[in-house]
Amino acid sequence: MDDTLTIYPASRLGGQVRVPGDKSISHRALLLSALAEGDSEIEGFLPAGDCRATMRCLRAMGIEIEERSETTLCVRGRGLHGLRPPGKPLNCGRSGTTMRLLCGILAGQSFPSVLTGDPQLLRRPMERVARPLRLMGAHIETTDGCAPLTIHGGRLHGIEYALPVASAQVKSAVLLAGLYADGPTVIHEPGPARDHTERMLQAQLGGQNDDRAPISYADGTIVIHPERITHLSPLDITIPGDFSSAAFLLVAGILVADAEVTVVGVGINPTRTGLLDVLRNMGAQIKVMRERTAGGEPLADLTVRAGPLRGTIVGGDLVVRMIDEFPILAVAATQARGKTLVRDATELRVKETDRIDSIVAELRALGARIEPHTDGFVVLGPTPLHGGKVDCHGDHRLAMALAVAGLIADGPVVVQNATRIADSFPGFAETLALMGASLE
Ligand code: S3P
Repeated sequence: MDDTLTIYPASRLGGQVRVPGDKSISHRALLLSALAEGDSEIEGFLPAGDCRATMRCLRAMGIEIEERSETTLCVRGRGLHGLRPPGKPLNCGRSGTTMRLLCGILAGQSFPSVLTGDPQLLRRPMERVARPLRLMGAHIETTDGCAPLTIHGGRLHGIEYALPVASAQVKSAVLLAGLYADGPTVIHEPGPARDHTERMLQAQLGGQNDDRAPISYADGTIVIHPERITHLSPLDITIPGDFSSAAFLLVAGILVADAEVTVVGVGINPTRTGLLDVLRNMGAQIKVMRERTAGGEPLADLTVRAGPLRGTIVGGDLVVRMIDEFPILAVAATQARGKTLVRDATELRVKETDRIDSIVAELRALGARIEPHTDGFVVLGPTPLHGGKVDCHGDHRLAMALAVAGLIADGPVVVQNATRIADSFPGFAETLALMGASLE
């Protein structure tokens, strides 16, 4: 199979499009449905490589998942103590979310387990999740700080834990393990990492957020009281479109000369939409329309229009609220007047790739003026981009960012390894084509 995507310069883009379901919420919907008592109905599931990895692992532990269509699932939950020993290592593919969240659940099981995955995932840091789970009483062996992981779980103690990095995956792992502890667990987070696990658990546990609630969260502190939990209720959920996928289409709509693009039904949870704030600071026109909620998550239709951008500074909490959007922000910054500085973003170095070095290398290959820093990068613009052959370093988000760069370059951009895009956004090329782009 040809594994390249060629994108041709575009003079206009338009239309109303949708993006597939949110990846983070799809993972959580599967995991929390499996632990619920009874059948959960999930609509808008993301049928992408990463979420399929979560599905595969749950099936290996005896969870029945009926696929009524690619995006509509029924998960037959077996309760908090219903998982079965998997019998062989659980393969998380390339999905960090699968591995880290499962680690939290497996820490609370009475059977041992092994978590493994593709070489790319086996390079990512896992001590960050093993450390707090050990404090709770689990025995977890890493392989030089990474996976494969061997987990001997059991009855856990509640802990009070200050997360050293703002990571939703680590926070969620501790919270999920907290379901199996003998007392409350209190988590303090240093920044506003995505809160989908908290929202979903709260929906399953009755919804209140007060001092008698099984789970409560405010001002960066999350408390879970397992002694107040008898079971998790099944979910009946429609998953909103993934903001992190919409981000590529929105930036395309701002950068291509004669464009107006609407993305319908996108999740706008404030822990995810830092990019909207940054693009507005840069001068972009973005309309948020038809705000509504589904499954405890806010969503809206987002419209952007072509327009000039100016450079900006991105740091602090804003980095946490747009942690997956830096590849596409870097592309936008190449077209902004002046300097765009990204700082406080060392976490980018431990994503699917070292996203600081890979963004810099590939955008430079297209003519961008971009310099790496230890904790971010700086871009000078506006700079005309030229066509060329680029590599996505096995990173779906870098592949899509480079494809958007191709829309504004002066010649075709050929993205190698482009099938990786299906890790998070199946149908990406088809959606751009619907908007009027030409690609093959
Ligand atoms: C995710 C959390 C983030 C994000 C990843 C998905 C999640 O990772 O980058 O794409 O679903 O919890 P970290 O928790 O490592 O910041």
